[in-house]
Amino acid sequence: MADERAGAAIEQLRAELRYHEHRYYVLDAPEISDAAYDAKLNELRRLEAAHPELVTEDSPTQRVGGRPADGFRKVMHSRPMLSLDNVYNAEELRAWDRRVRELAGELAVQYVAEMKLDGLSLALHYALDGQGNARLVRGLTRGDGQTGEDVTGNVRTIRSVPLRIPAARLKGLLEAGSGQDGSVPAGSVQAADGQVGNEAGGVDAAAVERPRLEVRGEVVMPIASFQRMNEERERAGLSAAANPRNAAAGTLRTLEPQVVAQRRLDFYAYFLLQDGGYFPAGQAATLDTLDALGFRVNPNRAVCATVEELIAFVDCIESLRGTLGYEIDGVVIKVDQQATQLRLGYTGRAPRWAIAYKYAARAGITQLLEIQVTVGRTGKLSPVAVLRPVGIGGTTVVRASLFNADEVARLGARPGSWVRVERGGDVIPKIAEVVPRPENEAGMEESPEPFRMPDCCPVCGTAARQAEGEVDRYCVNTDCPARLVQSLLYFAHRGVMNIDGLGEALVQQLTESGLVRSIADLYTLTAEQLVGLERVGEKSAQSLLEEIARSKEAGLARLLMGLGIRFVGERTAELLAGAFGSMEAIAAASADELEAVDEVGPKVSASIREFFANERNQALVARLAALGLKMTAEKKQKSTQLAGWTFVLTGTLPTLSREEARERIEAAGGKVSGSVSRKTSYVVAGEEAGSKLAKAQELGVAVIDEAALLEMLAGGE
Ligand code: IVH
Repeated sequence: MADERAGAAIEQLRAELRYHEHRYYVLDAPEISDAAYDAKLNELRRLEAAHPELVTEDSPTQRVGGRPADGFRKVMHSRPMLSLDNVYNAEELRAWDRRVRELAGELAVQYVAEMKLDGLSLALHYALDGQGNARLVRGLTRGDGQTGEDVTGNVRTIRSVPLRIPAARLKGLLEAGSGQDGSVPAGSVQAADGQVGNEAGGVDAAAVERPRLEVRGEVVMPIASFQRMNEERERAGLSAAANPRNAAAGTLRTLEPQVVAQRRLDFYAYFLLQDGGYFPAGQAATLDTLDALGFRVNPNRAVCATVEELIAFVDCIESLRGTLGYEIDGVVIKVDQQATQLRLGYTGRAPRWAIAYKYAARAGITQLLEIQVTVGRTGKLSPVAVLRPVGIGGTTVVRASLFNADEVARLGARPGSWVRVERGGDVIPKIAEVVPRPENEAGMEESPEPFRMPDCCPVCGTAARQAEGEVDRYCVNTDCPARLVQSLLYFAHRGVMNIDGLGEALVQQLTESGLVRSIADLYTLTAEQLVGLERVGEKSAQSLLEEIARSKEAGLARLLMGLGIRFVGERTAELLAGAFGSMEAIAAASADELEAVDEVGPKVSASIREFFANERNQALVARLAALGLKMTAEKKQKSTQLAGWTFVLTGTLPTLSREEARERIEAAGGKVSGSVSRKTSYVVAGEEAGSKLAKAQELGVAVIDEAALLEMLAGGE
């Protein structure tokens, strides 16, 4: 009986863990914190230890991670990419240290502490060419830990990934592998690793790639890039990414390398493997070597002799959190000496010689006062939590996103609920879970009714529509005042028609007074009408009118964006404007003609055609044309593929002349410069490259060959 009950509990936990693994590793959309996941996994481990006869091969305790997403070629890792066990406070870290020292016996223990970057891990494979240079041949995501996805094309666009490591830098490294202090010969590293391979189970040895050189590290999206990306997505009517980690993961799996190139990703290296075994000189030396090879290595690292030094480092880094420009979620601590690492070995999922000290998510407990429903420019109804103000990590949070009705139901949130609010970096705060009312807390009673999305638009009262299979409801009234306000704000936005001075308060007044019922009405406003409004003086009225008049010249691409056609964001608008040259041509284009444009697929073309098929939209466009808005663009605008990048050419390229290479780079929007500096994005090196190559190496500028350049140029074709 007891066994039966344990069996049911084990199955239940496994199902839950698989679900959360899938959310985390495949969908990049975890629902529970790492700590909650670990607690479940530990509980499963405990139950399985008590009932060993119930352990099965497919239990989450028996493997490394989740499964890779479809769409990319799957490649076996040279050795499993493991995970880390976590500790959450100094006491747990001290206990871990005691255990390490116990297991190490007489062997020396020294630690290397590094920041734990919140991104996703990546393995880079390098092969040696005829001249002894190492060339990037493959980039693999972690996948399920045994098999990763081949994202080489995308990885090549990450500027901090060297595409080539010159032979001169590798000198000494490859031969010296086995001869350094306290190290173990490469052969025995391999042998010790065999154990890990076995644990992984079912690995087809023939399929395992053992690159000569492999660098593992973390891909992150800097917070600034993340914010820019979300602004663009919002303008295109797409949902925003929840955090930089998801954004980085999504970007790396994008099937278009030039999109990846535009969203800046960074790569920080932390492991070096030779022929599938760890670099034998120890972790501190590994990081220095990676640095010398031209990889970006996080400078915030320390070698610590004692656990108290580690704790001081952990505290110090926590105080830097928020100033780094990218997200970290803790500190990774590794035993430095490889001989000690080998003695400590591995558990199923993680090395015993390393641990992650995880910072608590910046979170607070507060009461949900009200669930408001807002109406977006497309009519989408979104629930938003209004909170009793709570201070979290230096800011006061009063509202939090609830995403959609499913999320509210999953959380079980309703007015009066007590909730844990989490704030990750600069992301909009979100509700992590509903918690019991804290003791000694009064406040309003929880509503007896679960929250329901309204059947009608909360602003205009029109019945809301919910498409089959979709979570979201939409207000379908194109005259809905809320939609009009949002559309006008979007139209005036800096990145769109750039009408300075047309803020929310003014737009509210303009629509409520009936002066503006459509975008076109902005262009017939008079100074008299404006001065009649609250807080608008002669001078500000005049400058607003000037701004509005100036916006007529914004051009086809901007106007196309401003119309708010779903899925038509900045880049698509530019491509459409460049390909068709006029609003008329776009409005008349067939689906095939539209889809001949880069990045326009059936979904986008359908949305464009639907927009122009609508009579109201036709009338709006005609009126805007009559009011003098510019509706044309130079056809075949310059490509922006390499925009913002500076190249330096050196040596003789195999097929292109210097002049041809320059022309092609410039035609793609890139710049070519004669000398190498820190501002150089890439040095394109051919045969007999001279001092420029040396300079690039000295400054750590990425060096690529002609093939890589051609690939970048071809990215958008
Ligand atoms: S070592 C077997 N070092 O954290 C060793 N990982 O929670 C595992 N991470 O999968 C990796 N910064 O994606 C290591 N300095 C760092 C790291 C780091 C971030 C990530 C990595 C890993 C995860 C484990």
